[in-house]
Parts: sequence; structure tokens; C-alpha cells
Amino acid sequence: MSQQQTTAKRDGFSSGFGVLAATLGSAVGLGNIWKFPYLTGANGGASFLLVYLLATLLVALPVMIAEIALGRKAKANPISALLALAPARQPWWLIGAAGMVASFLILSFYSEVVAWVFAYILKAISGSVLSSDRAVTEAAFGSLISDPVQSLVWQWVVLATMGGILMLGVTKGIEALTKKLMPLLFLLLVLLCAVSLSLDKAREGLAFLFHPDFSKLTAATVLTALGLAFFKLSIGMGTMMTYGSYFRDDQDIPATAFRVMSADLCVSLLAGIAIFPAVFTFGFEPAAGPALVFITIPAVFSQIPMGQALMVVFFVLTAIAATGATLSLMEVPVLILQERFGLSRRKATASTLGLLALTGSTCALTNSALSGFTLFGLNMFDLFDFVSSNLILPAGGIFIALFVGWVWGFDQLRRALSNEGRLNNGKLAGVVFFLLRYVSPLLILLVMLKGLNLF
Ligand code: TRP
Repeated sequence: MSQQQTTAKRDGFSSGFGVLAATLGSAVGLGNIWKFPYLTGANGGASFLLVYLLATLLVALPVMIAEIALGRKAKANPISALLALAPARQPWWLIGAAGMVASFLILSFYSEVVAWVFAYILKAISGSVLSSDRAVTEAAFGSLISDPVQSLVWQWVVLATMGGILMLGVTKGIEALTKKLMPLLFLLLVLLCAVSLSLDKAREGLAFLFHPDFSKLTAATVLTALGLAFFKLSIGMGTMMTYGSYFRDDQDIPATAFRVMSADLCVSLLAGIAIFPAVFTFGFEPAAGPALVFITIPAVFSQIPMGQALMVVFFVLTAIAATGATLSLMEVPVLILQERFGLSRRKATASTLGLLALTGSTCALTNSALSGFTLFGLNMFDLFDFVSSNLILPAGGIFIALFVGWVWGFDQLRRALSNEGRLNNGKLAGVVFFLLRYVSPLLILLVMLKGLNLF
């Protein structure tokens, strides 16, 4: 490793629960609240769920385990980690560099969606977006996203909040906060589920989410499931490698990854159970993406007893989910700037924030000042999403799997996963290795080609 000045102990996660909370905090995010429930409902319910589970177990989970193992072995940021673990002069460190770029691209639009969530907490409290008329809630959302000042200022509020938490450090910032927020998230979700399930058409909502429809299983939905599994578990760009570098040496990596994946799935399912029974009860169409969260949901809540309070709960919950994910995305460039460029934690965070305010503003202004500005036929919001989700993440996933499967090798993986022989999980390491060497790279390649519309 090329770090000097490491006389002080490296910051990291201090307890088993802290590791779990922070890692789960990264996995749980906006993806759970609208992407997962909607995609599951629209693509065949239980049959999609089955494919999603297979994609997670065969591809996403092995890559997640690989990233964490690499990070913990090297105890460094993704660039330094791959420089240290790869044979001399092989450019695997480019995975880390691409991850840093992806982090800025994802954060540029992700932070703007979080900005809307923050703004909606206030709007829910003031009651200004509560209306049973979808046209009214649609106009309210439209006026927010097309106002350049509000869009920018709320994004800065989000960035400054996240930056403040990151400056506290890994143990005192990320870990301490996610340890408090993750249990709260589950509590609020269960509360909303109980309310939603008590409504008239709860059954219809559940049927939308769970009724298996195998006729909707096409090659395209299989690939959608795989892409979702990737985004959900925050893999392919060094986030999990970065968090892995904070794992304790006695942490059981495969068990932790499995728990994170299961808990993340729980949050996704609970989000669907909280949302769709209510949406069907009041006769709305289950819309996709931002429209579901910012237009349909306010209209639904306006018709539920105590709906205003519950809507505040819903947006606070979404903000909590998004916070852990945003922190993990920002931690990648912060750690790289710290360890590779020798900046202090404060300066590294401040530089990341400054750059993000710049790149993020292009997404904040997508619906106002820059509404006419497109590249390759996409506005900045969609372009950044496309390039990161469809190009960098899957490519990163392929190369991480190939690196472990063909360069790092079975022996290193087995030693890392068994904590140098202290855990008896050799068979499991064998399965993970086989998946990484052959199965994951091929399957991911299919996702990529589909993303690029090459077949
Ligand atoms: N997993 C988060 C979500 O579901 C998003 C996220 C956080 C992410 N870190 C990431 C996605 C790294 C890809 C890569 O919302």
C-alpha cells in the first residue's frame, strides 16, 4: 500500500452490529422504496421475485462478498486496494478509478431525488401537497422540480447534511448514525404496513405485488431483475470494497453479506406492502419511479385517517433510507482523496462536496435552466443514470468477478472468507469462487449488452 502517515489507527467499523447497520444502510435506499415494489408488481409479481432472488444469489451476492473481501484484505480505498492486490503493472486499479467517476455520476442525480424527499418532508408537515386530486399533487411536484432555486438549494442542503456526517468519520459518523437509523426505519415501515393492510383493498395491492404471472417472464424481465439486484446491493463501483476496508478482521464476511441481502429484501417487500394496498384502495394506477413517490403517494395519504402525519412518516422513512445509501456513495471519493492524495478527512469531504455541487447542479437544473440541454438524446439526469447504471456498474461487476476468479485466486478468497482459517466455510468459498469465475461475469455481460441495446 502506498499510504504514508498511517501512524494513527485507521478509522473503521467498531462492532458487528455497526458493520451490519452501515452496510445495510448502503444497500437500503431509494431503490427499495420505488424501484423494487414497482418493478416487482409490473413484471409478474412472485415470478419476478423468484428471478430477482436467483440473480441476487448467483451474481450480486458473490460480487458483494468479493468486494468486501478485497477491501478488508487490503484495508485501503478501491484504487490502492487493487494496486496492492494485483500483480505489478496490471491495471486492475482502473476499477477503483471508474468507481470514483461512477460515484459522482450516481450522486449527481441521486442527491437531487433525495433533495425532493427532504423538500417533501416540509411540504408534508405544512400540508401543502395534500390533495386527493392527482392533478393537484402533480402540479405541486412539477412546480418544485422546475424551480431552479429550490432544486439547487435543497440539493445543497442534502450535500451539506451528508458532508457534515462524513466529516465526523467512519465510526462516529457513518456507523453511529446508521446504528440509530436502521432500527427506526424498520419500525416506521412496519407502522405504515399495518395502516396499509387495514385498508379496504389491501388484497388487491398484495395481489399486484405477489401474484405470480409467468407469462411476464421474458428475457428482458430477467435482465431487469439482474440490474436491480446490482443497484440494490450497491455493487460494481467500489462502495462495498470501501466498506469492506472498514470491516473488522473477525467479521464473518459471507454471513454478513447474506444478512444484509436478506434484510434489504425485507425492506423492499415491506415497502411494497406499505404502498400498494393503499394505492389500490383509493383507485390509483401504480405508477413508476418518482411519480409514484411524489405524486400518487401524497394523493393516497390525503384520504387516509391521520394521513398527514403518516405522510410525514413516509418521507422521513424515505429520507432515512436514502441517507445511508448517499453516505456510502460519497465515502468512495472521500477515502480516495484522503488516502491517495493525502488530504485530511475534512478537506477530502469538502472537495467532494464542492465537486458534487458542480456536477449535481446539472441534474438539479434538468427541469429548468438546462431543460433543453441534451447529450446523446438524454438530459443530464438520465445520461448520468444511464452511464453509471448501464455501463460502469456492470463493467465494474464483471471485472471484480474476473479479478477474484482468475487473478486473486481460490486460495486467497478462501483465506479471506474463513478469516485465515478461523471459520469453517471452505465449501461455501468454493461455491462463491465458482460463481465468480464462470457464472457472474457471463450473466453480467448479458445485462450490459441488454442495457446497450445490443441484442
Ligand atoms: N443501494 C442503494 C439503493 O438501493 C443505492 C446505492 C448506494 C448504490 N450505493 C451504491 C448503487 C453503489 C450502486 C452502487 O438505493
